[in-house]
Amino acid sequence: MEKGESTVTPWEVKGEVDYDALIKQFGVEPLDDVLLERLKKQAGFLHILLRRRMFFAHRELGDWISSYDKGVNAALYTGRGPSGNTHLGHLIPWIFTKYLQDAFGSELYFQITDDEKFYVNPDLTLEEIAGYTKDNLLDIIAVGFDPKKTKIFCDMEYTKELYGIAARVAKHVTFSTAKAAFGFTDSSNIGIIFFPAIQAAPCFLPQRLTGKDAHILIPCAIDQEPYWRVTRDVAPKLGFRKPAGVYSKFIPGLGSGGKMSASLPETAIFLSDSPEAGAKKIKNAFTGGQPTIKEQKEKGGNPDVCVIYSYLYSLFDEDDKNVMETYNQCKSGGIMCGTCKNRLAEMIKIFLTEHQKKRADAKAMVNEFMLKG
Ligand code: TRP
Repeated sequence: MEKGESTVTPWEVKGEVDYDALIKQFGVEPLDDVLLERLKKQAGFLHILLRRRMFFAHRELGDWISSYDKGVNAALYTGRGPSGNTHLGHLIPWIFTKYLQDAFGSELYFQITDDEKFYVNPDLTLEEIAGYTKDNLLDIIAVGFDPKKTKIFCDMEYTKELYGIAARVAKHVTFSTAKAAFGFTDSSNIGIIFFPAIQAAPCFLPQRLTGKDAHILIPCAIDQEPYWRVTRDVAPKLGFRKPAGVYSKFIPGLGSGGKMSASLPETAIFLSDSPEAGAKKIKNAFTGGQPTIKEQKEKGGNPDVCVIYSYLYSLFDEDDKNVMETYNQCKSGGIMCGTCKNRLAEMIKIFLTEHQKKRADAKAMVNEFMLKG
């Protein structure tokens, strides 16, 4: 793959992603200041993931907010494919979803696609996936969603409600549309070819459960966009509103290049890592530093390619003045990589300690959150 080239599909993210190019390719809109102002007004503050543009694009977010203003049930929908243990990258859309739930008091529908991961992963058994589902559920609940307003469901379990909606969707999606959106070929198994209808279904679930109008907003990483493109085409044919979306970038792995990925465990901060193990991964991470201290002092580092800086910027350092200073000091050679690594390692330790406490508490809350089929 050439430099600057990338592939982004729901099942594969490869190479160096150019987000401006993706906005054009996927036909989504950049998040602008007017929208940010509306979110800020509703929430009382602008989340760091918005301020630093980790969430960077959307579809009809403004219409969704207007629906809320008019008293329509403005609900949220997001999900998780349980193919392994949860890492920090998975958490980003969920943290943002909680911010939106708190701001708008929205219902949240949370889909666990145990079927999807079975279809796309040649090595995973349904039993293994069920194990990951149980485990991942605790990480989801630990984010702090409102148990009264949040409904989590697994496709394999909640089939009865989902299948009827999926059938209505599937009837309107031709194989040629699905091929164009997802890149299916003659060797794709027929399970995954049907699956997009199952992921579309929750966009219409609140309407089905309540018999009332609803407008859905989907916070998720940009790789899920193909699902919503297909769903949005079908929605009016079924008499429903098109779901809106708000999309995040991927957080980089701790190595050089590529998103955080469970298949490269040394480059991912798993939520089950001990705080010490997490801190150690940070200390071994790729930076934008020079090979020696002497060169660093003379030439300065390169924060633009530094993973440590990108975590501070996108997630952990809320203080605008402070991040700017770190950036400038790094460039001018006034700060060494060890200093930034130590700072981030401490933040990761605190973050993992707190998450793991909430995860332990989540065990007693699972039933409260689950929709049963
Ligand atoms: N396909 C997603 C994954 O593999 C899971 C998912 C289902 C999802 N519905 C969603 C993600 C809605 C975001 C929003 O992780």
